[in-house]
Amino acid sequence: MTMTQSRPWSHASGKVILLGEHAVVYGVPALAVGISRGALARATPRDEGPSILRLDGLPVELRADDEERDLSRSFRAVLEASGVQGSFLVEARTDLPPGAGLGCSAALGVALARALDPGATAALTAERAMAWERVFHGNPSGVDTAVSAEGGCIYFERGRGFERVESATPLLLCVGHTGTISSTKSMVEAVARLRERRPEMVAKSFDAIRSLVRNARLAIEAGDVRALGQLMDLNQMLLSGLFLSTQEIERMCGLARDVGALGAKLTGAGGGGCVASLVENRDVAERVLHAWKEAGFEGFLAETTSGSRPADRAE
Ligand code: MEV
Repeated sequence: MTMTQSRPWSHASGKVILLGEHAVVYGVPALAVGISRGALARATPRDEGPSILRLDGLPVELRADDEERDLSRSFRAVLEASGVQGSFLVEARTDLPPGAGLGCSAALGVALARALDPGATAALTAERAMAWERVFHGNPSGVDTAVSAEGGCIYFERGRGFERVESATPLLLCVGHTGTISSTKSMVEAVARLRERRPEMVAKSFDAIRSLVRNARLAIEAGDVRALGQLMDLNQMLLSGLFLSTQEIERMCGLARDVGALGAKLTGAGGGGCVASLVENRDVAERVLHAWKEAGFEGFLAETTSGSRPADRAE
């Protein structure tokens, strides 16, 4: 088999949901930012045989014609959604932890879609990556693929797409891992069950989250990070009320606030995964990361992407 030349690596952002996770599945807006940790993929045309996905860290190559595996099905779905002709070797890698709420699977889907069609707009790339996400997540709102493809800060509403939000000041976010992974699919299903049992309670929480998200957008645009931090704390209270928090999440949020963070909350699906904490400056960021480390939690200062489409990177 001869290989034609590889295309450059395409990048997709990881993400932090600032406010609005879960409610966004039911049409409430959410605010999310892209982070530079993410995924890379490149596609090399093959002369013959099926398309193959080679994921870093996986011992096997996945063939697009393998009916058994979820990953092969999602790979095939993104190939079909991208409308590519011929077959490809697609190599992909990520530096995001899986099951942590940082958009690992969406970033892989977006990197794949972008590698297959680097010229597509962010919105089209995100839509194509949804084919990949649906295999894993059942009922994804689309916020993860949208922010992964667009980068920067976005205001997303299911069925209406996203708008870019220009932050008047850079957002400094510490991200810490509870050490427990969680399944987005299971957590979304748990909220759906709660909504069936207690529709009024869940509707009230979602209405409150809608107000928080709208106010948070204004706070971001005005550069009012104190207000944004308070709104994140309030969102965390509401997420707790929906049984999405855990002892570790509460502990990490408390530790961050105790050393001066402006706000802290779970990010993504909850039930484990990561906590995002907004801080005013790098000194506070160091204190937060130190407090987490002392308590046995790993964390990092997230570099948020600028909002211009992340440039394709050469290896
Ligand atoms: C997961 O990152 C965010 C959720 O709101 C699910 C979704 O929007 O598809 C929990």
